[in-house]
Amino acid sequence: MIQKPRGTRDIVPPESKLWVAVEATAHRVFQAFGAEEIRTPVFEHTELFVRSVGETTDIVHKEMYTFADRKGRSLTLRPEGTAGVARAFLENSLDQRPLPQRLYYIGPMFRYERMQRGRYREFRQIGLEIIGAASPLADAECIVVLFEFFTALGFDNLTVHVNNLGDPEDRPRYGELLRSHLQGVRDQLCADCQRRLEENPLRVLDCKVPTCKAITATTPGMEAVASPASRAHVEEVTSLLTSLGIPWQHNPRLVRGLDYYVRTVFEVVSPELGESTVICGGGRYDRLLADLGGPEIPGVGFAIGEDRLVEVLPPAFAAKVTAEGRLYLIPLGGETAFFGLQLARDLVRQGVPVELEVSGRSLKAALKRADKLGFARVAIFGEDELARGVVLLKDLRAGSQTEVSPVQLAEIWNAEAQP
Ligand code: HAM
Repeated sequence: MIQKPRGTRDIVPPESKLWVAVEATAHRVFQAFGAEEIRTPVFEHTELFVRSVGETTDIVHKEMYTFADRKGRSLTLRPEGTAGVARAFLENSLDQRPLPQRLYYIGPMFRYERMQRGRYREFRQIGLEIIGAASPLADAECIVVLFEFFTALGFDNLTVHVNNLGDPEDRPRYGELLRSHLQGVRDQLCADCQRRLEENPLRVLDCKVPTCKAITATTPGMEAVASPASRAHVEEVTSLLTSLGIPWQHNPRLVRGLDYYVRTVFEVVSPELGESTVICGGGRYDRLLADLGGPEIPGVGFAIGEDRLVEVLPPAFAAKVTAEGRLYLIPLGGETAFFGLQLARDLVRQGVPVELEVSGRSLKAALKRADKLGFARVAIFGEDELARGVVLLKDLRAGSQTEVSPVQLAEIWNAEAQP
């Protein structure tokens, strides 16, 4: 039998219910903060990611699914969402609409990574970008939306790690600082880092090779050379977080794996997955749109790894979502099957989720199935009930039953569904 490619996943029932519920919550919370959905292609011209994510990053260097199409054009399955959103923003002249714009997306991303828990080659992100606002308020708003989303899912144990990556003008100074700091140990760094030290010094702090990690553990962070304006910006963001009661901590080692960031960067870790499996990452990217050939429009955003998020969902949310919330309709022979189909349609039209027994099970077999699948209530109707214009509504948890008219079914259901 043919199996799925390594690093991909099938999301099948009952787990798929969790995904639907998480995504519905994202649509609801993000839209409530004024965000609009944007959908961009799953593949883009390779050049887009090289220019935005950065040539010297691991993502571009080692992890992209790049291929030539039939005309020999180099295309890449998107490794992340921000570059495509920025491109689409410019290409569709969204900058002609009032700024800022809050755009969100949910969809698959692709990175050729070594497989481990929470790390896949096809994974899904839920992301938000606020484009066209330079103020620290926008960074703080991003994190507020993020935490409202997490709270709606029942999380109460998450912390956001924050760092300041300074402005692009600060980078050459950081290169000098790092090179002088690492002078004596330079040749102990991996070949990649020796190259990074010249080309893109910040990336040295992102190296996963243990000897490089050990060597750079005590090097000064980017903040040592950050401009006063960038410091004031990030300090304002964190003071807003403090005032809002959002748990945050300063993490000077946080550099993020993408090159477009300036000033604020942040990540969210869950106690369950630990610091090496980040649930969400984001930050400010004020030069990205200009680097892609557009006007100078600032941006800030984040993306959540949905696969990782679903893995650590609070049990109460998961239990609520997976509870069987439909009414099981059990026709008992003769004309009742057709009546059942009509009843199913009527009930759905009135907002009652149903499952119609279509396999002709006996009452005993149907009740056994209801029990196994966790249905709380079933409606049973034989020819006798139909003749009298009633159905038997059975509450399997309470062990009670009543005869009601089909019209009453929706009324009873909807009344009980009210909180
Ligand atoms: P990122 O940190 O590369 O940022 O990815 C965001 C999140 O995607 C990670 O925190 C993680 O949860 C998830 N993720 C990344 N790689 C994998 C993988 N191989 N398997 C499973 N989950 C993964 C970005 O992509 C930026 N575009 C975020 C952003 C938006 N910055 C500003 N706006």
